[in-house]
Amino acid sequence: MGIIFNQKEQVFLLNTPNTTYGIAIADDKYLLHLYYGKRLEQESVRYLLREDEPPFVPSKNLREKNSFLDCAPMEYPEAGMGDYRESAISIRSIDGYRGSELFYEGYDIEEGKPKLEGLPATWGGASDCTTLKLYCKDQLLGIKVTLLYTVFEQLDVVTRSVVVENHGEDPVYLEKVLSACIDMDDRGFEVMGLFGSWARERHIQKMPLGYGRQNISSFKGESSHQEHPFLALVTPEVTQEVGEVYAMNFVYSGNFIAQVEKNQFDSVRMTMGIHPEGFTWKLDKGERFVAPEVVMVYSSEGLGKMTRTFHNLYREHLIRSPYLHQKRPILINNWEATYFDFDEKKLLDIAKEASQLGIEMLVMDDGWFGHRSSDNSSLGDWFVNENKLKGGLHQLVENVKQTGMKFGIWFEPEMISPDSELFKKHPDWAIQIPGREITQSRAQYVLDLTRDEVIDGVYQMVSDVLHSADISYVKWDMNRQLTTIGSCKLPADRQGEIYHRYVLGMYKMQERLLQEFPNLLLENCSGGGARFDAGMLYYSPQIWCSDDTDAIERLAIQEGTALIYPVSTIGAHVSVCPNHTVGRETPFDTRGNVAMLGTFGYELDITKLSKEDKQSVCEQTKQYHKYNDLVREGDYYRLTSYRENSYYDSWMIVSKDKKKALLTYVQVKARANGKSRFVRLQGLDANKTYTIQGKEYLGSTLLYAGLRFSAEFGDYKSQMIEIEEV
Ligand code: DGJ
Repeated sequence: MGIIFNQKEQVFLLNTPNTTYGIAIADDKYLLHLYYGKRLEQESVRYLLREDEPPFVPSKNLREKNSFLDCAPMEYPEAGMGDYRESAISIRSIDGYRGSELFYEGYDIEEGKPKLEGLPATWGGASDCTTLKLYCKDQLLGIKVTLLYTVFEQLDVVTRSVVVENHGEDPVYLEKVLSACIDMDDRGFEVMGLFGSWARERHIQKMPLGYGRQNISSFKGESSHQEHPFLALVTPEVTQEVGEVYAMNFVYSGNFIAQVEKNQFDSVRMTMGIHPEGFTWKLDKGERFVAPEVVMVYSSEGLGKMTRTFHNLYREHLIRSPYLHQKRPILINNWEATYFDFDEKKLLDIAKEASQLGIEMLVMDDGWFGHRSSDNSSLGDWFVNENKLKGGLHQLVENVKQTGMKFGIWFEPEMISPDSELFKKHPDWAIQIPGREITQSRAQYVLDLTRDEVIDGVYQMVSDVLHSADISYVKWDMNRQLTTIGSCKLPADRQGEIYHRYVLGMYKMQERLLQEFPNLLLENCSGGGARFDAGMLYYSPQIWCSDDTDAIERLAIQEGTALIYPVSTIGAHVSVCPNHTVGRETPFDTRGNVAMLGTFGYELDITKLSKEDKQSVCEQTKQYHKYNDLVREGDYYRLTSYRENSYYDSWMIVSKDKKKALLTYVQVKARANGKSRFVRLQGLDANKTYTIQGKEYLGSTLLYAGLRFSAEFGDYKSQMIEIEEV
């Protein structure tokens, strides 16, 4: 069992194969953070609390209780009582007083992992993981808080979440309920996060940790293009292979805050949870609030180990789709091929040509419903535009199937256009502040998914379409963020719940879709990759990574995304040149080699490709079938990053048994008078002999000395290299 309670020392030790997380009870009531890091084999470690240093616990030094609260390493810090660092929970009583004292009352250790009602979360059975529940109570308010920790037997992961229950007589208002907090001494940490914009998502950035607070957050109603619900503290020497990493990732798709705070004593508090901005949750007598899960990973072997831990956890204990371990159909999506300008003939022409070249599914993107011929109208009118698709959807799908292809379709179920039948009928279904103009974005409003009748109404339309034809795949898009936050139905003192209720409503809809259509392949999307997060992966095994399909732009986007998420989840397509977002020309094979690190597909008008490019499509679709099992199931190693070296990017996927690997090398920029380069490989078995392009190498040679890449003439050249045990 991974969790030990040392009764004598009043210490909990949560062990994973290589890590230990420790919590101590002080004064019989305070839960203090003791340790997180490399696995400790000794059980008697209470000395790590520094109890013999002032200011001492309140039972010994009540007059300085404030100092204790403000400098002790708190496991779940509270607002209002004397800890001036970032709190994890803030509760306002019905009388308006803000403060709580959640004192420890007991614990349970259970095999397996409880579900989090209505929320996505990692899962595991009795043989996979063990859960610690720490019970705390505020006597005055009658509020009970359960801190949940799960450790996985085979993975260096600790997951956390929090359940708040009102056992008192009166309602309380939760003004903040974060999901995780760790306090530790600074070790010269640097802060790592993922930042970007539309078409430039999840670029890795590292910055020094200074005094004060540094946070990464979103209060856009979704996890966002700009900042990502991931935060890591890394020691200064960190590389892919060495250094310490403390990482947190949120299994949630709405507002979040991830923060580090370095204080006067050089201690660091790292927190993550739902952003308190715009959040107040009324908890009536008998009600409970569940805070979403944070996944914590510690690695003492650099970023690469952290990455592979996340990948393994998410592939084995988060994604539920039956497609997770299957080759996904190679799809062709008509968005960049036609945008809104298509009809049934155009789609069929694409399908006919694509099916000849090894492509397996046609996805009809935005523009098939209502009277939508631009992004100005019709969201919410989920019925087929028969002026565009003459003969209707069923006929089109049957015709596409005749070519040997499957059929997929695009929806944006969370939205409503001001110019739509739905809005005419139900103007109150949009999120809005009555009396104010609703802020438009892409000429659309957001549906009020806090209301069941809205969910039911829209879901029914989507479901009817899916029943009307043989549809294998849905791309679920979300193209704007939330504004003018208000619901026409929620009472005044529950308006602060909208952001979170919205996310719960969206999860509910997706769950319903999966229950009703268990064989549907769902791909999430949000104006590219604004909602590429662990929460959405619970519902869909793949997510459209970015609207930027340029192979070179994609290097940094996919590097940042693959820092946490398995490459099998990354929606990646080959598109035409000049690229529609940046205008760059890249070789067709480089576009294919980069998209191969993902779900793989096409986003172009295949009827207009040259003969040579069509030939390349044939070769790429064959390569996909050859390599996808390895890419999907193998271990990902980042070898070099052109973000850091300005010239070349490379990565490898190695099979779990280390017998096979696939290496991709992209020379982003040619260098005048440049020599060849040695790239040191990773993940191979030092003692095995491997063959590469007809030559044999010992694993250790490839790991320590590297493989040689000659300097090519011209930018954007790339290679995909097979490595196989002899
Ligand atoms: C944003 C998506 O990322 C695109 O792929 C496309 O589906 C458009 N929306 C359609 O409006």
